[in-house]
Amino acid sequence: MHCNTRCPQLIKNMALLPLLYFPDPKLHTVAKPVAAVDSRIRTLIANMLQTMYDAKGIGLAATQVNVHERLIVIDVSEERDQPLVLINPQTIWTSTETHLNEEGCLSVPGVYDGVERFDAVTVSALDGDGESRVVEAEDLLAVCIQHEMDHLMGKVFVEYLSPLKRNRIKKKMLKSQREEER
Ligand code: NI
Repeated sequence: MHCNTRCPQLIKNMALLPLLYFPDPKLHTVAKPVAAVDSRIRTLIANMLQTMYDAKGIGLAATQVNVHERLIVIDVSEERDQPLVLINPQTIWTSTETHLNEEGCLSVPGVYDGVERFDAVTVSALDGDGESRVVEAEDLLAVCIQHEMDHLMGKVFVEYLSPLKRNRIKKKMLKSQREEER
C-alpha cells in the first residue's frame, strides 16, 4: 500500500468513519468480496486507516465501519507507519501451534481477554493497488490478521469467551452506550 497517511492530497479527502459497537447485530454480517479495487475502495482504505490510527487500533475490518466487503487494514508497527491493506484475504496456511493471546477490539472498547489463535498464518490477498500478494505472518501480526478476518465472517472476539463472560460484556457495553446517549 503506497498511500501514506501524511500525503496531503489524501488528508484533504479523508474522514473518520463511525464505528459499530458490540453487541450491534450488524457486526455479525458476513462480508462479500470486493468486486474491484476502484476509487471508492481507495477512499474507503484511506478513511479506514485514518479511523484506525485515530482510535489507536492495530487493525480494522470494513465490517466495523458498516461496510460489508472483505477489506481489512492493519498496522502493528511501533511507529505506526507500516499500513497493511488486505482485500479479499484467504488463509492458505496455518501453523499447528496455537497460543492464548490477550485481545481487544475497537468495537468492544475497554474489554481485553484471551483468545486461542494460530501462532503463524499465511494469507493471500489483494493490496491497496489491487495487486495479488502473499503475506506470511507470525506473532502479533498473525493474531491481528485472524482477528480481523473473523470480523469479515461476522465474528467478534468475545464470541470465543464463555457465555457467562460474553453476557457480562454485553451488559457492560449496553450500559455504557445508554450512558453516552444521555
Ligand atoms: Ni476487532
